[in-house]
Amino acid sequence: MEDIRIKSKADYQAAYQESVDHPEQFWAKIADTFDWKKPYDKVLEWEFETPDIKWFQGGQINMAENCLDRYLETQPDKTAILWEPNDPNDDNIAWSYKELHHRVCKFANVLKANGIEKGDRVCIYMPMVPHLAVALLACTRIGAIHSVVFAGFSAQSLADRINDSSCKIVLTTDGSFRGNKEIDIKGIVDEGVSKTSSVEKVIVLKRTEKFINMKEGRDVWWDDEMEKVDANCPAEPMDAEDPLFILYTSGSTGKPKGVVHTTAGYMVSTYYTFLNVFQYEDEDVYWCTADIGWITGHSYIVYGPLLAGATTLMFEGIPTWPDAGRFWAIVDKYQVNQLYTAPTAIRSLMANGLEPVARYSLNSLKVIGSVGEPINEEAWKWYHTYIGKGKCPLVDTWWQTENGSILISPIPHVTDIRPMYATNPLPGVQPIILDKDGNEITEPHEEGLLCMKFPWPSIVRTLYGDHDRMRNTYFSTFKGYYFSGDAAKRDNKGRYRIIGRVDDVINVSGHRLGTAELEDAINEHPWVVESAVVGFPHDIKGQGIYAYIITERDIDSQQAFKDEINETVRKEIGPIAKPDIIQVVPGLPKTRSGKIMRRILRKIAEGDISTLGDTSTLLNPDIVDDIVEEATTVN
Ligand code: PRX
Repeated sequence: MEDIRIKSKADYQAAYQESVDHPEQFWAKIADTFDWKKPYDKVLEWEFETPDIKWFQGGQINMAENCLDRYLETQPDKTAILWEPNDPNDDNIAWSYKELHHRVCKFANVLKANGIEKGDRVCIYMPMVPHLAVALLACTRIGAIHSVVFAGFSAQSLADRINDSSCKIVLTTDGSFRGNKEIDIKGIVDEGVSKTSSVEKVIVLKRTEKFINMKEGRDVWWDDEMEKVDANCPAEPMDAEDPLFILYTSGSTGKPKGVVHTTAGYMVSTYYTFLNVFQYEDEDVYWCTADIGWITGHSYIVYGPLLAGATTLMFEGIPTWPDAGRFWAIVDKYQVNQLYTAPTAIRSLMANGLEPVARYSLNSLKVIGSVGEPINEEAWKWYHTYIGKGKCPLVDTWWQTENGSILISPIPHVTDIRPMYATNPLPGVQPIILDKDGNEITEPHEEGLLCMKFPWPSIVRTLYGDHDRMRNTYFSTFKGYYFSGDAAKRDNKGRYRIIGRVDDVINVSGHRLGTAELEDAINEHPWVVESAVVGFPHDIKGQGIYAYIITERDIDSQQAFKDEINETVRKEIGPIAKPDIIQVVPGLPKTRSGKIMRRILRKIAEGDISTLGDTSTLLNPDIVDDIVEEATTVN
């Protein structure tokens, strides 16, 4: 394993060069550290036109087996999953590799006993309990394709995702705890499933022990089912390119899309990047604060760490409960060595001052990481100075749901770190910055569009049921390149800085939301004629949601109407999507061809009306003044 770890600048340069000159040889070396059920014949075949990307063809392998069985002889008693409950006074959990293996095998048999076969889609709607990791691994053990839906999404969003991939079963809990709130998870599942026709069974884990309705013939208890099965469950041989999971994410148009990741490539990338970006050592305790409902949780709470035989910590609660020192209490309690979190969490904790930090030593930390959105300078410095004590390298990792694994990131003690820069591509990653006409930008400090020239093993393979959309979204803007949707620039040492999305995607507290999907939700309200949503800079969330709404009638109570809009969005998408600012407008600025001029709306939302540009060519130029006039009173 040692020779795939990067420990010096020379290692990085050698690995990077090899990955460009001989990509097949480079990735094969990593793949060969796994247990294969059948060796692969060909490392890579690809083209970005269709697109058609295949890694490790002919090979057969199983994800769960490589996460668990592989470690049964060497480290059966090492803790695989540590779990910190929402309430710090409740018992925590530590499951060894042996125990996790046992539970995964049993639950895999539960899935089989409930009619799940290889290739079936399993929807998982669960809070952050360790059984959620068991659920993922049990699916991959038998070749079922999991589709995890973040348990903060609404019943409608859950139903849309279940329907899109015809899930046969839903795994859930009776309820969940988040801070001082208790959430009726099963109620949301009942409502969601009532809008679907493919779901045959719902398996319910007890968490809150509140009374819930169990639907006869459909709903069964997790624990009862576990009693009925044994722990003998051979891992299914999966073709390298068999789908591993689907994860829905928002785009600039239409409904969320089902990003499909396949088996071997995803394994190779998550394993390699986990080891190198976090410099995990054998006895370390690693903690990623994400939710498993997002790609960060899939790749860097469950799969990457377990493939590497690590101890991975899961936290059920929130950073600010019982107080704003909770993260730091957890770091000290488990002597966490690597902490991976999001700028939005940092900013909200920073707003609570230094007192909650000063209560803890944080001396165990060796590496601190950031992901999900650009980290502003103030948050970077606070995190580095007060959490990393100025001694821990801060890895600002850039990647996306579609990428499966980190693509651009510093490597601790190797890369020259620069605040707010994701810095260098990891080996195997070949970025390029293009201008809008597709010409390469080589000049330092010049902003352009971030693309990739060459596939890495965990690149998205398709969007579930819609390969045309896959091509149109990522591979048609620039022929022959994967287009990320982000703007970026490089400094004179070639280090990358990610600026943010250039499309109609808003990043709210690290959650990706499409303006089209937000507008569709708002338009569900019967009084709404038309709406336009844009992002604006927000101190804690990174970006906030600003909604301009045209109503069918005069609104008597603006506040009551806004509350109703919030409620509509909560029902359609979930609480994370509620607008921060709602402005009722008489019209929206449009081009002569009827397109909404979002650029103008964005400027108004940002409070930057001095540079609105020429509005005289608009279909309705007067509307801009009307909106500006009202906007100043909104802000
Ligand atoms: O805009 C980029 C931003 O998050 C987007 C991807 O979101 P998602 O698919 O939800 O995945 C988030 C976690 C991997 C990107 O297009 N983003 C992610 N990481 C960074 C970032 N922006 C700046 N710096 C980052 N480190």
